[in-house]
Amino acid sequence: MNHPEPVVLITGAGKRVGAATARRLHARGWSVLLHCRDSREASEALAAELAAVRGNSARVLVADLDLASEVRRLAQEAESAWGRVDALVNNASSFFPTPIGQARDSDWDTLFASNARAPFFLTQALAPTLARGGHGAVVNLVDIHADYPLAGHTIYCMAKAALVAMTRSLAKELAPAVRVNGVAPGAILWPEGQGEMDAATQAQVLASVPLGRIGGVDAIAGAIEFLIAGSDYISGQILAVDGGRSVWG
Ligand SMILES: NC(=O)c1ccc[n+]([C@@H]2O[C@H](COP(=O)([O-])OP(=O)(O)OC[C@H]3O[C@@H](n4cnc5c(N)ncnc54)[C@H](OP(=O)(O)O)[C@@H]3O)[C@@H](O)[C@H]2O)c1
Repeated sequence: MNHPEPVVLITGAGKRVGAATARRLHARGWSVLLHCRDSREASEALAAELAAVRGNSARVLVADLDLASEVRRLAQEAESAWGRVDALVNNASSFFPTPIGQARDSDWDTLFASNARAPFFLTQALAPTLARGGHGAVVNLVDIHADYPLAGHTIYCMAKAALVAMTRSLAKELAPAVRVNGVAPGAILWPEGQGEMDAATQAQVLASVPLGRIGGVDAIAGAIEFLIAGSDYISGQILAVDGGRSVWG
């Protein structure tokens, strides 16, 4: 463990929640391993921005989490980057609708690969290095829709529910050296690409949020920071960061 700063691997770190989390933990003195697949340019720019603040404190690792072999390679590269990994944020996620009657086997594979399978095998591969210092932490980005269904998105909801189950199960199995928690965002940033929502759907979502607004990435990054570095006595918990949406009824 020669690297002087604690090290966090964040998957899907090039943009949005992942990038905000990287900036936040880096500002708190962490070195960051920024994983990406397609957002290489954005990730390199973020790494350069952070390295300008403190040298040798940010690196980019590229992997397609749909492929088991790349998940294994990512874990190896993460460990060998600085010889330590103190925290893992399983943030990368695919999101798109799979209405009943139209879902394909390949949709199942894609949604489960990034949202459940890769987080499990990444955590398994990194467990020894996470445990080494006795204070490792894993934070899984789940979704309030693991508990409260999102119409037309059954497979996504199932995959996130699997990640909730993994959070609780590994909190038990990896204790006491590694704490495992989850953050369940509500409406934080509107989805882009395949999962994009029209204005009417966005208005409908906002009508169900007691705080009446979307949360923004810092709300999630702050919760992740808290679970990694703000408290050392929380494990196996899912923290909803949703503007009160999950208690609306
Ligand atoms: N945004 C919200 O309002 C909201 C609500 C509920 C839950 N969440 C959860 O919070 C987390 C962050 O949300 P977000 O909106 O910031 O996520 P996002 O932008 O939808 O996705 C984050 C990144 O995941 C990566 N990714 C997806 N599939 C991948 C694969 N097969 N291999 C490698 N990387 C892959 C992509 O990286 P590249 O761009 O590098 O390919 C993408 O930029 C996610 O887990 C999401 O499910 C978000």
